Order: sequence, then C-alpha cells, then structure tokens
Amino acid sequence: MKGIILSGGSGTRLYPLTKVTSKQLLPVYNKPMIFYPLETLLKAGIKDILIIVSPEHSDDYIKLLGSGSEFGARFTYEIQDKPEGLAQAFIIGENFIGRDCVCMILGDNIFFAEGEPASGGEDPLTKAIKDFKTGGQVFAKEVPDPERFGVVKFDVNMKAVQIEEKPKQFLSNFAITGLYLYDNRVISVAKKVKPSARGELEITDLHNWYLKQGELKVDIVKGEWIDAGTFESLFKAGELARKKIT
Ligand code: TTP
Repeated sequence: MKGIILSGGSGTRLYPLTKVTSKQLLPVYNKPMIFYPLETLLKAGIKDILIIVSPEHSDDYIKLLGSGSEFGARFTYEIQDKPEGLAQAFIIGENFIGRDCVCMILGDNIFFAEGEPASGGEDPLTKAIKDFKTGGQVFAKEVPDPERFGVVKFDVNMKAVQIEEKPKQFLSNFAITGLYLYDNRVISVAKKVKPSARGELEITDLHNWYLKQGELKVDIVKGEWIDAGTFESLFKAGELARKKIT
C-alpha cells in the first residue's frame, strides 16, 4: 500500500499564522503538525509516501522532511498548483500510486489512537490500515460541529446510507475524518469527478461512488481525532499532544 499526505491548501482560517508558512508546518506542541499524520502512516508500516504541497512552500517541506531516510521511509513530492480539492490528489498521484492501494491522510488531521502509547499493542486504526484489501474505507467520528465536514448517516444497523459534504440541513453528527483507504480504482473514479459549486473535486464524490457499489466500509474512530485547521482546534491539538507526552 502507498501513502499520500495531502499538505497543500491555503489555510485561510488560520491567518495570519499561515501568511508566510504552510498550516501543516505550524507547531503542535513539540513538533510540526505534519509529523502527526506522517507517524500515523509509518505506524501502519507504510514506507512509500507521496507528500503533496502547494508551490509556495515546497522548499520548506523538503528541508524539513528530506528523502525520508531519517524516518526509515521514502518520500516523493508533488506540487498541487491550486487547491482544487482533495480528490485531485489521486490524479496528481497517479504515477506514484501505480497499481497499488492507497491510504491518504490530510496533513492537518491528527489521530491520537486509543490506548497508546502505554498499551504497546496495535490500535484499531493501525490495524484497519494494515488489514485493508479492496473497495473503500473511511472513518467517522461523532462531533458537535458536523457542518464543517463530510457527514455520514447510518441506518439502525450502523450501515452507512448517505454521505454529504458540509450539509446545510442536519444529517447526523458523524463527520468523516481525513484518512481514506481506497483500492486502485480511485484513480479512474477521481478523473471522472466534476468540480463542485465551490470549484473543488470533492472527496465525498469518491466515497459516494464506492457507497453506490456497496463497497464502502465506514468505521467509527476510537480515540481522539482533531482537524487542526482552526484556532480552537489547533490549540486543542497542542494541549492533547502535551497531555499524551507528559
Ligand atoms: P481545508 O482545511 O479544507 O482547507 P485549507 O487548508 O485550504 O484551509 P482553509 O479552509 O482555512 O483555507 O483542507 C483540508 C486539508 O487538505 C488541509 O491539510 C489542506 C489540504 N488541501 C490540499 O492539500 N489541497 C486542496 O485542494 C484542499 C482543498 C485541501
């Protein structure tokens, strides 16, 4: 399985913090934000990782992360010219992905897996990534502010029945977190996606394609998850990271 860290975007909600640097390079307690999603991939044994960045900050990423050898991994870099949506990552990453499956994580998404670091055992998220074989798999988490995210509705048996990007009408409290597992078909599906009203290739369209095929698995994330894209969530991420370490 290949890994992608999507680390472009404009980070406008964090202005002026992001005026001269990339959001995912900002500190979260004792390390740059991108180290957290990177560690999520490394922990699952993914060593071949594509890092997609915006043109303004590519030098900084290479300076920080280098070839990957320091992490026992191999990093490839690609530039996303404009933030035209999460699903575009699979088009940019076509050659890199080759014939493999792919695990994509957003550069500002932090997963504090349940039970770590004390238990030493494999946490459920790591296990799910390692066990993935085919179809699509995403991870939902109950949140108080679902309208910020892609949202999934379950039936009484906790089977996913509907997924919508930033729904205006309440759908459910389950947000889809920024870690996605797809088989190789995702490349051709992404190529068929049309830009949404906000001009982006929406990842929700990919989820919905797999949902329609009856091949989307939606798990509930155990442990903490933070999308660190706002002042409040960035602060909370720092606090949580500190708590986990000290
Ligand atoms: P967002 O937080 O939705 O967007 P953003 O980072 O541009 O921030 P803001 O809304 O405050 O302007 O993006 C989620 C993640 O995906 C984040 O890590 C940035 C990344 N991203 C890209 O790399 N390319 C894109 O085209 C988009 C939309 C996001």
